Amino acid sequence: MNTAPIRSICCIGAGYVGGPTMAVIADRCPEIQVKVVDLNEARIAAWNDPDLSCLPVYEPGLDAVVGRSRGRNLQFSTDVDRAIATADMVFISVNTPTKTKGLGAGQASDLRWVEACARQVAKCARGHTIVVEKSTLPVRTAEAVKAILEASQLAEAGEQKGPPPSFSVLSNPEFLAEGTAIADLEQPDRVLIGGEDAAAIEALAGIYQQWVPQERILRTNLWSSELSKLTANAFLAQRISSINSVAALCEATGADVREVALAIGTDRRIGSRFLQSGPGFGGSCFKKDILNLVYLCHHFGLPEVAEYWESVVHLNTWQQHRIASLVVRKLFGTVSGKRLAILGFAFKADTNDTREAPAIRIAGDLLEEGAQLAIHDPKVSAEQIARDLNLPASSAPDAEAGPTRAALSGEGTWWPAANITDAVRGADAVLILTEWSQYRQLDWSGIAALMRHPAWVFDARSVVDPATIRSAGLSLWRVGDAG
Ligand code: UDX
Ligand code: ADP
Repeated sequence: MNTAPIRSICCIGAGYVGGPTMAVIADRCPEIQVKVVDLNEARIAAWNDPDLSCLPVYEPGLDAVVGRSRGRNLQFSTDVDRAIATADMVFISVNTPTKTKGLGAGQASDLRWVEACARQVAKCARGHTIVVEKSTLPVRTAEAVKAILEASQLAEAGEQKGPPPSFSVLSNPEFLAEGTAIADLEQPDRVLIGGEDAAAIEALAGIYQQWVPQERILRTNLWSSELSKLTANAFLAQRISSINSVAALCEATGADVREVALAIGTDRRIGSRFLQSGPGFGGSCFKKDILNLVYLCHHFGLPEVAEYWESVVHLNTWQQHRIASLVVRKLFGTVSGKRLAILGFAFKADTNDTREAPAIRIAGDLLEEGAQLAIHDPKVSAEQIARDLNLPASSAPDAEAGPTRAALSGEGTWWPAANITDAVRGADAVLILTEWSQYRQLDWSGIAALMRHPAWVFDARSVVDPATIRSAGLSLWRVGDAG
C-alpha cells in the first residue's frame, strides 16, 4: 500500500472543469505543485495571460483564485509528457462529447480523448501514479482506462528497465455548475471518490480534506461513482423538463408557473431549487449524460427505462422549438425580414460557455424563418456565435436605410450587437434568452422608443417586471404565463 502524501498533480485538459478545479486545489493546498496541461496552445496561452480578465473560461471569482496561485504552485503548460512524468496523481479532465457516428452515435460518449490520455499516461508515468477520472464518463470507463494502463505495465516489465510504473484508477466526478464553479468547489455539497485501492482513495481524500469537512467526502466503488454523476444530472435535468411541461400548461390555462413553482417548492420533499422554468436546459452535461444513460439502459436490455429518460431530452428540445414558433405566431405569423433583438446567448448567466445553449436552437429556427437577428451577450464572442449558428455574421444594417437585400429576399441573417441600444434599434421584438443580471434593470421606456411598433418582449427567463413592460407600451410574453 502506497501512502506517501501527494506532492505533485497533473491535470490533462484545461477546460471549464480542469481549469477552475485545479485553481481551487492549488489555492487550498499550497504545498502541492499543480500543473494543468492541454494540447491547445491558444488555451494555455490565455490561462497564462498576465491580464486575468483574459482567462479562457469566464467564471465569477476565478481570476482572484488563479491570481493567488499562478506562478507559485499552479502552472499551465502544453508539455503534457513532462507533467505526467513528474506527477504522483494525474487527473483526466478532457472533453467527452456525444458520438456523432458509428456504434452508439447520438447517445454514447466519444471516448477517443480519454483513451488517448490513458495511453499517454501509460507511456510517460514514472513510479506509482494515481489516475483520477474527472471528466463525466459512462459507467465502466475506468475499466478501459485500467486495461490500457495495465497493458503498458506488462510491456514495461517485459523490457526490464528497472521497476515498472504502477497505477491506481479512481473516479472523482465533478459536480460544479458553471457560473458558480468557484463557490461549488470551495463549499461542495459532497465530494465523491470511487475506487478499489483504499490507499489511493485516502490520498485523494487527503487533498480535499484541506478544506472540505470529512463527512462530505463520500467513498464508493468505481461504478457507483460513475453512475452517480450520470444520474445526478439526469435528476436535475428532469426537474427542468417537468417544470417546463407545467409552464406550457400554465400558458394554456391561466395559471402562472412562478406561482406554481413556489407553491410546490415549499413542500420540503420537493424543495425550491431548480424549479425555474425557462427556454430549456443547456450546457455540456445534461443532454450528454442523459443520452449516455439511455444508451446504457438499451445496452442492458431496459428499453422502458431508456424511453423514460429520453423523454426528458425530448421535452427540452420541444420547449425550444415551441418558443421559436410562438414568437413567429405573435408577430403575425411571419418574421421574414423582421429585426429581432436576442439578449443572451450563453447557456446560462455568468459563463461564456454556449455548449447546447437554448439560444442556438431558438435563433436557428428564427433564421430559418428569415429573421434578421441582432445578438447581444456580455461574454460570448461573435466568432463563437458564428460557429454555433454555422453562419458568419453580417454587418449591422443601417436602421435609417430601410430593409437590406437579405431582408427583402427572406434570407435569415445575424450580427453581433455591441450594446443593448444597438440591439433593439428598429426591432419588432426583444427576446431574453439568458438571465444576465444586466437584463433585469433595463430602461424599457427608452427601449420602446427605439423599436418598431407594435413591439413585443419575449421573456424566456422571467427577468422583467410585467407592469414596467406594459406601461412602456410593449406587448409581453413570459414563459409559463397566460398573459
Ligand atoms: C450541471 C450540474 O448542475 C452540475 O452539478 C454538473 O456538474 C454539470 O452540469 P451546469 O450545466 O454547469 O451544471 O449548470 P446548471 O446550473 O445545472 O444549469 C443547466 C441548465 O439548466 C442551464 O441551461 C440553466 O439555465 C437550466 N436551468 C437550471 C433551468 O432552466 N432552470 C433551473 O431551475 C435551473
Ligand atoms: P470540460 O467542460 O469538460 O472541461 P472542455 O472542452 O472545456 O471540457 O475542455 C477539455 C480540454 O481537454 C480541451 O481544452 C482540450 O484541448 C483538452 N484535451 C483533449 N484531449 C487532450 C489530450 N489528449 N491531451 C491534452 N489535452 C487534451
